[in-house]
Amino acid sequence: MSISKRRFGFTKDGREVTCFTIDNGKLKAEILDYGVTIKNLFVPDKSGKPVDVVLGYDSVKEYEENDGYLGATIGRVGNRIAKGKFTLNGEDYTLAVNNGPNHLHGGLKGFDKAIWGSEERENSIIFSHLSPDGDEGYPGNLKVTVEVILEENGITLNYSAETDKDTLINLTNHSYFNLNGGGDVLGHTLKLNADKFNVGDGDCLPTGEIASVFGTVMDFTKERSIGNGVDSDEPCVRLSRGYDSNFILNGEGPAAVLKSERSGIIMTVSTTEPGVQVYSANFLTPRRGKNGADYTYRHALCLETQHFPDSVHHKDWPTCVLKKGERFSSKTTYSFNV
Ligand code: GAL
Repeated sequence: MSISKRRFGFTKDGREVTCFTIDNGKLKAEILDYGVTIKNLFVPDKSGKPVDVVLGYDSVKEYEENDGYLGATIGRVGNRIAKGKFTLNGEDYTLAVNNGPNHLHGGLKGFDKAIWGSEERENSIIFSHLSPDGDEGYPGNLKVTVEVILEENGITLNYSAETDKDTLINLTNHSYFNLNGGGDVLGHTLKLNADKFNVGDGDCLPTGEIASVFGTVMDFTKERSIGNGVDSDEPCVRLSRGYDSNFILNGEGPAAVLKSERSGIIMTVSTTEPGVQVYSANFLTPRRGKNGADYTYRHALCLETQHFPDSVHHKDWPTCVLKKGERFSSKTTYSFNV
């Protein structure tokens, strides 16, 4: 196991960005302190050849200028909050609005754009960030850490947070996975441990209805290819131009298994979170990625482990409220085999 670091570049406003490399001889991850971004993740394919299974860029400038949150840590609240407004303890809060009329992924300057503090451990790096009271409209000084651990066969993200005033939290990672290292992912197969999903509207906001996946193209309870369904007329798929929905996890066993027959790579996602946003990169406009690669729509699948979108407006769903004096923690592991 080795951890090394190098200067990756500078942000537009002159802040230095560091790239950490964690290597265990089998897997190698490169993580930026800018957004705790997973820049590369090399895993061996069926012939033992390393494949970089995440999308990313070669420069800080590209991370700053492009949308899509490639590989980044998302916070304070991942996914959408309707109209960027909520009421907590009788007080009304207005958040930055950055997705039509709604708040998405923490706002205009979410955790993906912060440069985090870092501390190297034996097989992990602990990244930390202080989001001040009023940041993007959220109450409370929030201290948040993400520990990125390189396991023998995978990568674990351990999230934790504390606040000095009741606030909201819903942390995730927005990696775009492609188990072939490039091209579209329509031939990848997906299995989800989810019998239900949140029905969404044209803004990808939950209507409040929780529907059964069975008998629809949302049914991934048995391994199925992503291409088989991504263009279907199922309203949630049509409105989002592909998959972009929160699936409600059944609770026991891995949340998701993504496979590519071509590379032979199988990725298993396990999480303590109650949901996973399955997003088939429908809004990934054509762009240049790492090493000159061309990325476009459906060139990756995001599996964003999370609380349900807009849950602050749905009292019966698992709460995103973090109370003063309490500690938030969650854990997601992506493991790989062939
Ligand atoms: C996803 C979200 C998509 C899109 C994407 C970023 O998490 O569900 O609708 O906003 O992030 O481009």
